[in-house]
Parts: sequence; C-alpha cells; structure tokens
Amino acid sequence: MSDRSSLDWSSQLGQPLHGELRVPGDKSVSHRALMLSAIAEGTSRIHGFLEGEDTRATAAVLSKLGVRIETPSSGERVVHGVGLHGLRGSSEPLDCGNAGTGMRLLTGLLAGQAFDSELVGDASLSKRPMRRVTDPLTQMGARIDSRDGLPPLIVHGGQAMRGIRYELPVASAQVKSALLLAGLYSEGVTEIIEPHPTRDYTERMLAAFDWPIDFSPGHASLEGGHTLHATDVEVPADFSSAAFFLVAASIVPGSHLRLPAVGLNPRRTGLLHALRLMGANIVIESPRESGGEPVGDLVVRYAPLHGIELPESLVPDMIDEFPVLFIAAAVATGTTTIRGAAELRVKESDRIATMATGLRALGASIEETPDGAIIHGGKLGGGSVQSHLDHRIAMSFAVAGLVAEAPVRINDCSHVATSFPGFLELANGCGFALRAVD
Ligand code: S3P
Repeated sequence: MSDRSSLDWSSQLGQPLHGELRVPGDKSVSHRALMLSAIAEGTSRIHGFLEGEDTRATAAVLSKLGVRIETPSSGERVVHGVGLHGLRGSSEPLDCGNAGTGMRLLTGLLAGQAFDSELVGDASLSKRPMRRVTDPLTQMGARIDSRDGLPPLIVHGGQAMRGIRYELPVASAQVKSALLLAGLYSEGVTEIIEPHPTRDYTERMLAAFDWPIDFSPGHASLEGGHTLHATDVEVPADFSSAAFFLVAASIVPGSHLRLPAVGLNPRRTGLLHALRLMGANIVIESPRESGGEPVGDLVVRYAPLHGIELPESLVPDMIDEFPVLFIAAAVATGTTTIRGAAELRVKESDRIATMATGLRALGASIEETPDGAIIHGGKLGGGSVQSHLDHRIAMSFAVAGLVAEAPVRINDCSHVATSFPGFLELANGCGFALRAVD
C-alpha cells in the first residue's frame, strides 16, 4: 500500500477549553461489528461506526471477500451477512492499512476458510509482531507464512482447525479475539486464559449475535459449529479518543469540557483512574447501558496534577492511553513512575522511545526503562517532535502544545485519520490552536 504524504501540525497555547465534544465511535467495537456482521446470517446495522482509515480498511477487506456493505450515511453501515461459510477468496492482497486490530483479527477469521488470503499493511503495520497470533493459530491447525514473523501474511485455506486451550503469554485482546474467531471454524472447544483481563468486546458481541460463549474476566471459551444471527450494533464513543481531551482539559487552567456518551468498559478506563490518582477532576454523569456496553457523559475540569507511581494493575486497562499520560506526567508536579508496560514498545510505534525522545526535545526530564519510564514533571518548551507514523503520538503532542512555552511542531500527522478523523477541527472548536503547516 502507498504511504500517505507528510503533513505537519503546529500546536500552541490556546484558550481555556470549553464546550461539548462528540468524539468518534469506538475503533475496537467498529472492527468487530463489521467482522461478525459479515459472517452472520442476515442483515446487520451498525450505528456510530468509526469513519477512520483503520475501520474503513477492514470494511474494504470484507468487501473484497464478497460481503456487501452499504453506507446510508456517515457513521452508519448496513452489512449483508454471507453466513459463516459464505466468504469468497480474493486474488488481490487484503490491505489492512495501519490497523493491527484489523490484521490480527482477520488472520484468525481467515485461518478457517477454504481459500488462501494475503494480508498486507502500511510501513508501521509491516513492522508489528504477528507470531503472537500465528503461533497459537498454527497450534489450532492453521498454515500461515510470514516475513520472519512480520506482515505480509499468507493465510492458507482448507486446513482442518481444532480448538485448543491457550494461556496467553501477554495480555492482548487482539490475540484473544483472533483465536476466538478461528474457534468459530474449529472442531471442539477453544479456551483462552489471560494473564490479566483485556477488553471483552468480541465475547460480548459474539453473545449478541447468538453464538454460545462462556466468558468472565480473564477467561473465554466457545465451541465451533454454531450460527451467528444478524443484529444491530450501537457503537459507543471511543474512550481512547476522549482521553486526549481528558488530559487537555485537566492541564489547561480554566478548562471545562463535556464528552457525551463515551464507552466506559472497565477494561478501557484505566486512564480515568490514573488521572484521578494524579488529582484530576473528572465526573461521570448519567452512567447507563447502550448496546450492551456501559457508557456515560464525562465532565472534566482543570485541576493541578501531581506525579504518581502508576499501579501496574492499571496498565492493560489503559494500554492505548500512555502517550497522553506521558504528557500529563511531564507537566504535573513531581515524578511519575511507569512500570510493567513493555507492550508499548510494539504498538504503532515504540511508544516509550517515541514519547521519551519527543518530550526531551521539548525540554522535559524523562528516563526510559525497558518496560516504562520515570517522568519528572515541570514546564515544557517548544520544539519539533516526530510522530513516527503513530496517530496517538501526534495527538498527544498536540495536547502538549497547549501548555508549552513556544509552539510544538509535530512531524507527519497524516495518520491521525486512522482513529480520529476530524481531530484538528474538533480540537480547535473547543480552544486548541492547532494548524496544519507545510
Ligand atoms: C485492541 C487491543 C489492544 C489495543 C488496540 C486495540 C483491540 O491491542 O492496543 O489498540 O481492539 O483488541 P493488544 O491486543 O495488542 O494489546
């Protein structure tokens, strides 16, 4: 796939942040809703679908596999399911773009098909480890070729898949989900045990599509040979996208933001707890259920933050929010220590190294450790930082620019559209001073 052309951002001191912001739909839920709808019997409707490049790439892959997907309006999809065995092979490579979730889950889904598939990705995805899914899938009977554990992946069809009991070596919802999807096509029981519970969207959604599944935090098991029945899916706003505004409003004096209908699955809200431990003022209003998921309106007001020893138990519940937590820690009073987060090194970029290098370029004092960082809070200056093709790094440094003493220039922010289309406009609408520069 062609990588897009570079686009830099400049972020600087803005106004106190005010207003009500609707952040886009949840990325994890949107990917899963497409995949399960595609192999269900009947027509499913997805409301609040994330119009990001990652989730659109998954939709395009499923279309290539013979699934008809309509877009009646932005954020809506109508998926005409082809049934468990109705996908058709594609002679072209299946391009997952930047999406680790897309590629890993699709690998599980494709392992049990009758046809061969080739999964490819962009420069960032092509560096991400795939053995974590291909090894256990191979134990289940799959045959998958890779470039020494990296994409592209050739998934050979026509294999007899069988369920296994698998203890995940690292907490990963992507690996768990890939194995559960392969389990739909396997003889016998597929059972997954996690070292720490991770987001359970696949399990909840399989149940909503009528597939019998037994799950509790840290454990899931299902049997092959049932049928998925189409249903409608309500996608909540993505907590990981709300996270940038939770930190931004917490660190800019005088700020007061409201973020309605944000998904509050407990396996996603570690940052909320971490920020509260640091002194943040964040209130959940009208907690409720929507589409089987807990949601609530988040109200955040400025509050002075102080450093913490981050409890390691929070790490898996905030695995995508570390870049912006690093910014909060860098401007808090005192020291923040992060441990047990080595997984950050294999995200869209090595997020420990990328954040440490970027923060140092802005004058922060930060020590990198193999599985975390020690961040000494203080003031940030201006400067130039690299996004390393990582959407969350780019948005995190846009937040840093709000409190830096001079403009922060962020190199190559084009990848922000993978998870958060319209971030720049939404941010500027509530008080950021963020602009695209040549
Ligand atoms: C995701 C799981 C997490 C997360 C990613 C989305 C998912 O990855 O970082 O953004 O949708 O299952 P890991 O499973 O690699 O931890």
